[in-house]
Amino acid sequence: MSKKVISPGGALEGIVELPGDKSIAHRYAIIAALAEGRSEISNFASAADCRSTLECLRQLGIAIEARDGRVSVVGHGLDGWKSPRKTLDAENSGTTIRMLAGALAGQPFTSRITGDASLRRRPMRRVIEPLRLMGAKIKAEEGDRAPIEIQGSPLRAIDYTPPVPSAQVKSAILLAGLYADGVTTVRESVATRDHNEIALREFGAQVESNRGSVRIQPRPKLTERQLTVPGDLSAAVFLIGAALVLPGSSLTLHNVGLNPTRARVLDFLISMGAPLRVVSVQLSNGELVGDVTLRHAPMAGGKVSGAAVAEMIDELPMLAALGPFTEQGVEIRDAQELRVKESDRIATLAEGLRRMNARVEEFPDGLRVEGKSAGKLRGAKVDPAGDHRIAMALAVVALGAEGDTVIQGAECAAVSFPEFYATLDRLRGSEEHSSRASGSR
Ligand code: S3P
Repeated sequence: MSKKVISPGGALEGIVELPGDKSIAHRYAIIAALAEGRSEISNFASAADCRSTLECLRQLGIAIEARDGRVSVVGHGLDGWKSPRKTLDAENSGTTIRMLAGALAGQPFTSRITGDASLRRRPMRRVIEPLRLMGAKIKAEEGDRAPIEIQGSPLRAIDYTPPVPSAQVKSAILLAGLYADGVTTVRESVATRDHNEIALREFGAQVESNRGSVRIQPRPKLTERQLTVPGDLSAAVFLIGAALVLPGSSLTLHNVGLNPTRARVLDFLISMGAPLRVVSVQLSNGELVGDVTLRHAPMAGGKVSGAAVAEMIDELPMLAALGPFTEQGVEIRDAQELRVKESDRIATLAEGLRRMNARVEEFPDGLRVEGKSAGKLRGAKVDPAGDHRIAMALAVVALGAEGDTVIQGAECAAVSFPEFYATLDRLRGSEEHSSRASGSR
């Protein structure tokens, strides 16, 4: 496991092209593998999670070529997947295991899918339950954990409201709905990201969204497409965070995904005082894309709770970690879901921030990180517990601390943003203010 030493200071300056959006790339790859013909996907995500999806699809008999951010996927239609010879490995990726579970439920074969130690701790009942209701036969480890074994079966259409708002669960049910005997409906009280609905339509499925419900017609003919993945806003937020920590910073983020079900974080940052501007917005394959510019400015602080939690779920660690750089601090509530992500993000972040001398109060459903008056941050040795978003959030905090910070297992950032540390170094542009890799421990 490598460590990374982050030295504080400097300022971020420049233009950034973000890697392709992780959520969208998973969906383009999976749906292309269910379509007929060769789909070409540009700016595919560099995230390790999306490589896990491609590898699983290869095990299902799909020919995939991936080079320099371009991925071609040759699908043979809804019935074109082959029974895999070995257990599929989603590694660290919750989106891979949950979405594939949906598509596998409709196949005429039995498959097993698992993941790394973190994924095997995460709850799978939320996806197993609706798929069982549709008629799939699913076995799981105790507590409905992975590995899960899915015996594909003829599926019944259902009308279902997931108890926890989850785009992964909604997406799994919609993929299973492709194989159902009628119209499948998913209802949501809180809107979660709708990339799957948009992507399915792009490939030719009939998907209707109307006031919190999504309906999908079964057995569409999905056909090959040429698609470009927008830059990943959830990755961009770590660079935005760094620019807000370092005085004098000024950044342009090029071609970032601005889908309204994801972009709420920008509104929140603006409400905290961040001078963000969105320009050149256009529609690309049904997704809004544009440029985001910002410069450093003092931040007031704020609170995230209620429906906004699901809309900013992946950005909450970065937002909370900005707390010590704000006047009034940052509070996150109603976010118990953070406890079942790649790590218990509330506990892992609270521990890392406290080690750096931040004042943090932890609640069952969130945390409160005090603002500037709680004192100066100090560099420390921190452990993000293998969680990519915690590693990047702590690296950003380290930029504004006194003294160096050592991040254990920092390479886990590659799960969503392999270029993160190098991009940070390039934008800081100075040798003194760099992040250094140091040997294994
Ligand atoms: C994702 C949905 C979210 C998010 C995850 C990616 C997706 O999870 O946290 O990083 O691509 O659908 P939930 O849908 O479980 O909240």
